[in-house]
Amino acid sequence: MSYKEELSPDEKLKLLFEYVGRIADEKKLDNLLHLMADLGRRLVVADRCTIWIYDKKKNELWTKVAHGIPEIRIPANTGVVGHVISTETEYFTNNAYDDPNFNKEVDKKTGYRTKALLALPLYDNEGSILGAFQAVNKMTEAEAFSEGDISILKMVASYSEKSISNAMLNEEIEKTQKEIIFLMAEIGESRSKETGNHVKRVAEISAVLARLFGMDDDEAELIRMASPMHDIGKVAIPDDILKKPGKLTNEEFDHMKEHTNIGHKLLENSERKIIKASSIIASQHHEKWNGKGYPKGLKEEEIHPYGRISAIADVFDALASPRVYKPAWDHERIKKLFVEEKGQHFDPVMTQLFLDNYDTFVEIIDSYSDI
Ligand code: C2E
Ligand code: SIN
Ligand code: SIN
Ligand code: SIN
Ligand code: FE
Ligand code: FE
Repeated sequence: MSYKEELSPDEKLKLLFEYVGRIADEKKLDNLLHLMADLGRRLVVADRCTIWIYDKKKNELWTKVAHGIPEIRIPANTGVVGHVISTETEYFTNNAYDDPNFNKEVDKKTGYRTKALLALPLYDNEGSILGAFQAVNKMTEAEAFSEGDISILKMVASYSEKSISNAMLNEEIEKTQKEIIFLMAEIGESRSKETGNHVKRVAEISAVLARLFGMDDDEAELIRMASPMHDIGKVAIPDDILKKPGKLTNEEFDHMKEHTNIGHKLLENSERKIIKASSIIASQHHEKWNGKGYPKGLKEEEIHPYGRISAIADVFDALASPRVYKPAWDHERIKKLFVEEKGQHFDPVMTQLFLDNYDTFVEIIDSYSDI
């Protein structure tokens, strides 16, 4: 193994400048932890740097940033990191296997050999323990960490703690939003009980179609979360219409069409990104590319891409599933309809992507089948 050089003060300063802005701007917990780990590793010339997050409820520490290794969980009261968490003081050892605080279990799991180990506590906005910042194996000839390494990592920690707290809070809020959205969608769905897993399938189909259409993962995820609400306005449609076994009269169908406006009104006032997207989808999922849809008769690119995507997903799933008013269609018949409606009901580019990947969508509806 070849040793590395300790960084000069100038080099450390340059690294700090390079990372501090990125850390302050990063909103995603995973990315943030990676940035901190990379910065820490490079500053103190460690082989690895890990940010452990303290899970109070389970009394465990977890990390995703053990470079190249998937999430690891360890009991919060073991090892050097556990020691640091319980005493709330930094700690380092340059001969881990001789140190009574060292926990060999992680090495056993990973096949790694720890020699030098440094860890310090991280705090959240309220000053309670959030986790630990850990560096493993000094790569210089000395093979030993120093007080200087501790002080520079402490500085990184103090810069980063606020960002980590905020990112964790944001993830918590997003998780709550997602749960509420699925709950609301399920309430809407339970009114017309024949739809079963309809909202889940539409969500999944829409997300895959969004990716095929060139949207990034974040936007596809947004559509996945937002599209379950597309029919939420049906909560206001009376049972005798919603559950009518036969064909609707014109008057009944006019009433039914209102589910788009009702959904839009329910959702339009939210500032939350997911709800905003839901509002667009609720109001536009029955618009048609040729302008003959409802409620507004928007055409082509006047219809938001989310509306055009959910139109395909919704009709595909409606046709592939039985309804009180119709049996499920077979796939040849469904594909024929999409070929005919390409550029009529549906965005032609999206329709072609949908048809080119038809099997993928069949797999999705089969995996969330109602039986
Ligand atoms: P849904 O059942 O979720 O259907 C969504 C969309 O899938 C429909 O929007 C339509 O574009 C397409 N679709 C569903 N079944 C068929 C079909 O047999 N043939 C064709 N060509 N397309 C189909 P649409 O038509 O705007 O209907 C909106 C909602 O109104 C439907 O949602 C359903 O809840 C209700 N609805 C529509 N027609 C009837 C009906 O004849 N009887 C009853 N009871 N409800 C109906
Ligand atoms: C790095 O070690 O520089 C990148 C590896 C990672 O992202 O964990
Ligand atoms: C320890 O903290 O004692 C072990 C943790 C590790 O090696 O990553
Ligand atoms: C089918 O599953 O019915 C046919 C799939 C395809 O042809 O793409
Ligand atoms: Fe609808
Ligand atoms: Fe629907």
